[in-house]
Amino acid sequence: MATSKRSLQRLLSRVCMETRRTYGVPPQGHGHKSSPLSSSQHLINLEYEYSAHNYHPVPIVFSQAKGSSIWDPEGNKYLDFLSAYSAVNQGHCHPRIMKALQDQAEKLTLSSRAFYNDRFPVFAEHITNMFGYDMVLPMNTGAEGVETALKLARKWGYEKKKIPIDEASSSKQLSTIILAMEIAHGMFIDQDYNHNWVFLVFSKLFIIFYLIIGLSTRFFEFEKSILEWVIRPSLLKMVTILFGWQVIIPPDGYLKTVRDLCSKYNILMIADEIQTGLARTGKMLACDWEQVRPDVVILGKALGGGVIPVSAVLADKDVMLCIRPGEHGSTFGGNPLASEVAIASLDVIKEEGLAERSDHLGQEFRHQLLKVQQQFPDIIKEVRGRGLFNAVEFNSKTLSSVSAYDICLKLKERGVLAKPTHDTIVRLTPPLCMSSDELQEGSKTLHEVLELDLPKMQKAKPEKMSSIASTTCDLCKLLMFKLR
Ligand SMILES: Cc1ncc(COP(=O)(O)O)c(C=O)c1O
Repeated sequence: MATSKRSLQRLLSRVCMETRRTYGVPPQGHGHKSSPLSSSQHLINLEYEYSAHNYHPVPIVFSQAKGSSIWDPEGNKYLDFLSAYSAVNQGHCHPRIMKALQDQAEKLTLSSRAFYNDRFPVFAEHITNMFGYDMVLPMNTGAEGVETALKLARKWGYEKKKIPIDEASSSKQLSTIILAMEIAHGMFIDQDYNHNWVFLVFSKLFIIFYLIIGLSTRFFEFEKSILEWVIRPSLLKMVTILFGWQVIIPPDGYLKTVRDLCSKYNILMIADEIQTGLARTGKMLACDWEQVRPDVVILGKALGGGVIPVSAVLADKDVMLCIRPGEHGSTFGGNPLASEVAIASLDVIKEEGLAERSDHLGQEFRHQLLKVQQQFPDIIKEVRGRGLFNAVEFNSKTLSSVSAYDICLKLKERGVLAKPTHDTIVRLTPPLCMSSDELQEGSKTLHEVLELDLPKMQKAKPEKMSSIASTTCDLCKLLMFKLR
């Protein structure tokens, strides 16, 4: 224990001391003179000691933020290329959203839905008009939004699709919820608590099939036929399809095919747009890329403008009214503070044309990233994305012992904050207000890391340590990533 604490402290001091690329002063002009008790190192130590190790953060402490810039307690400035997983699409501390928060906080913050308040009805009308659905069910976090949509799907299955309750609750039943693509739900839905439902995580299903029939690459027709096979009504009574991309862009026609199959077999299509929605991919919803209208849409993250958790489930009356008073709810869902912030957050996205901006800047950014790929064709396997929802996937063989996390540490040392996904992918999803020059700074920094830092890192980490080093958290020594 003592040894791992010492090595943690050594690592932290190295990381904190090495990071000295400053870009500007914090907006409020302080933060430079951090005392030992407010230093990055002390705060990281505190969190490590007193908080569960359920995350593996890049060691940077956010102390102030504005737009797409972050300052740590020492006053170092960084560019944010994560946007809190799309929660700050509008940029950090957007003045209009902050004003909505402050004004409402002085008037009324909570009524609970035991009573009415004067902001939620206005928000409900606003969001349903904006997305063209009859009704909204407000929640707080995205996880709650997903849970709500699944509950709604089950109720709809019993009531509207007329799945017999005994059949749906028998362990042999085949009512199935399909979670399509690589998604976040695995983290939120504990299958142990869902004995009555079969969850098929699509990407895993594909992997199983690939293993069985020896295919090594995905291709659309194959996915389509599996989809058709999985949801044929003789096999299943009900299927709910959710998708939420982890920067996996479905092939053209995928969403439309899902929509068509759902309509054909009376299946509820649920789109988890918590991360991809609200302008992130260059449209208000990612489904808009194929003019697909899901039966249920889940929104979250940027709905709260990065200020307060707000999530919402949108559906038409025939689905939404399956839930009756007392069957589902949340003390904080639809609270006046969240409602007012959400109205402002939606208005900012619309009025600042963030969807168009994301589309346009995304193309520019990918162009720059592709140039980096051309310079390092062996290292970068793929650059992919839509709008400002992008990822760079590295070639695990040529990356050798170095992981995406290691690359993110180097990016951070050079002033760019990004997050690894799995062992070989770096997500690049900046706030949608980021300037063209700042995006350029991001791609230039990636180039510098690959040119200057990567060779040194590869030398420092011996090849034979590869699978172990890249799967172990440098801080807590827990296994963080899958083995290669
Ligand atoms: C697609 C998707 N759905 C749901 C969630 C859960 O959202 P929250 O963390 O607000 O509970 C996430 C979080 O990253 C997500 O990416």
